Amino acid sequence: MTGYSKGRILIVDDEVNAIRVLSAILSEEGYEVLTSTNVEYASKVINDDDIDAVITDFKMPGRDGMRLFEYVCEIKPDIPVVFLTAYGTIESAVAAMTRGAFYYFLKPPDYGKLKGIVARAVEQRRLKREIDLLKNRLGEENGRYRIIGNTPALRKTFETMEAVKDSVSNVLVAGETGTGKELIARALHYRSLRSSMPFVAVNCAAIPKELIEVELFGCEKGAFTGAVSRRTGKFEEAANGVIFLDEISELEVSLQAKLLRVLQEREIERIGSNKKIRVEFRLISATNRDLAEEVKKGRFREDLYYRINVVEIKVPPLRERKDDIPLLATSFLNEFCAEQRKMVTLSNEVMRTLQQYYWPGNIRQLRNVIERAVVLARGSQIGVRELPGDMLPPRRQAANNHSPKTLKELEMQAIRETLHKCKGNKSKTAKILGISRKAFYKRLREADADQPDTY
Ligand SMILES: Nc1ncnc2c1ncn2[C@@H]1O[C@H](COP(=O)(O)OP(=O)(O)OP(=O)(O)O)[C@@H](O)[C@H]1O
Ligand SMILES: [Mg+2]
Repeated sequence: MTGYSKGRILIVDDEVNAIRVLSAILSEEGYEVLTSTNVEYASKVINDDDIDAVITDFKMPGRDGMRLFEYVCEIKPDIPVVFLTAYGTIESAVAAMTRGAFYYFLKPPDYGKLKGIVARAVEQRRLKREIDLLKNRLGEENGRYRIIGNTPALRKTFETMEAVKDSVSNVLVAGETGTGKELIARALHYRSLRSSMPFVAVNCAAIPKELIEVELFGCEKGAFTGAVSRRTGKFEEAANGVIFLDEISELEVSLQAKLLRVLQEREIERIGSNKKIRVEFRLISATNRDLAEEVKKGRFREDLYYRINVVEIKVPPLRERKDDIPLLATSFLNEFCAEQRKMVTLSNEVMRTLQQYYWPGNIRQLRNVIERAVVLARGSQIGVRELPGDMLPPRRQAANNHSPKTLKELEMQAIRETLHKCKGNKSKTAKILGISRKAFYKRLREADADQPDTY
């Protein structure tokens, strides 16, 4: 529903006069009215526009009102459909009612009553949407988007978030893997005035190149082999809310150009169609690469970089906010104790070890380490025994690791020890180990994903 009208109504009737009368009445009431004299065009409008209710004639040449109703049920079942029917088609109209049509009127309708029904239909759709949103929110309130931390480094992040949460400027969240970029993106949205609108996440690295275009822009049925049905793209899904492009550096150059155009024109075209669809959204992107560096190397478009980076939120790595570690560790401990119905604490030595470690996988790694420790804990206290071997200083490691290792484990151990010696400096570590930075990050990510087994 738009802010300026009571709602957007689509009237479908093959008789132009009937349309005229109804339009006049509903416009007068403050509705925005769209019209169509046939089902084909009406379907298109329903597809492309945000319609709050449909009023349709039953009998029309070509496809009839029932077909339109079926179409609505299939693609936007929350839109109420009101039928106008002549005596000859009452039975069909009644049948439609049993399948969930909102109401039917005999022609000519009592316009006073019709106005009342339209108002109720629009209200019903609004309520349905609200309920969906509330359901979403309840999920969030369970603490899912709580950002833990209190160090100056993180507080600066909070301040930026607070300052920009209600604007529509594009935001880039930058930070190492596992620092909480996605958490911050979600928190930014769910604490904003537009929190009731959708938050749609797309991981640019996880979706194969050939599919990502369809994913983002949608496609028409038959647009290419395999496009067996029409698909709405993520930009459309994100209407009036946020589209979150995770790992945006992985977007290939041709798509970068397309994205730039969407950001400039606020319009998209589904693949296989050249109709422009207006889209309103806020873009939040995330990256664990240095995008400025990617620009320098010619892998990321400079103009796009400036567009998506109107506001930059830098998320500090965990080793730069070590004072947050006790808070985070305790909070994760409580969470996993509750989940696993255990009552354990962390020994002082564990707490010290956690604070000394350099955390290449940042908060995600810390979370995994605590989860693993709670699983392994036997007594009432978690000791260093329950920490992954390579978290301990090398001397303790030797004492702790008796079991034979796979090649991969040895490789990880070498990486971690070197990282430790280089105080977490990844470029230096990669150099010493003689592998490329890319290969190095790949291994780190693998280790992250494999946890806790590779520890
Ligand atoms: N400050 C924080 N407080 C509590 N939990 C956090 C915090 N930061 C991150 N986490 C948790 O750590 C995990 C990783 O966070 P998230 O997925 O947001 O990281 P990311 O930066 O997007 O990582 P990647 O670069 O690998 O995609 C999640 O389980 C998240 O809930
Ligand atoms: Mg992420």
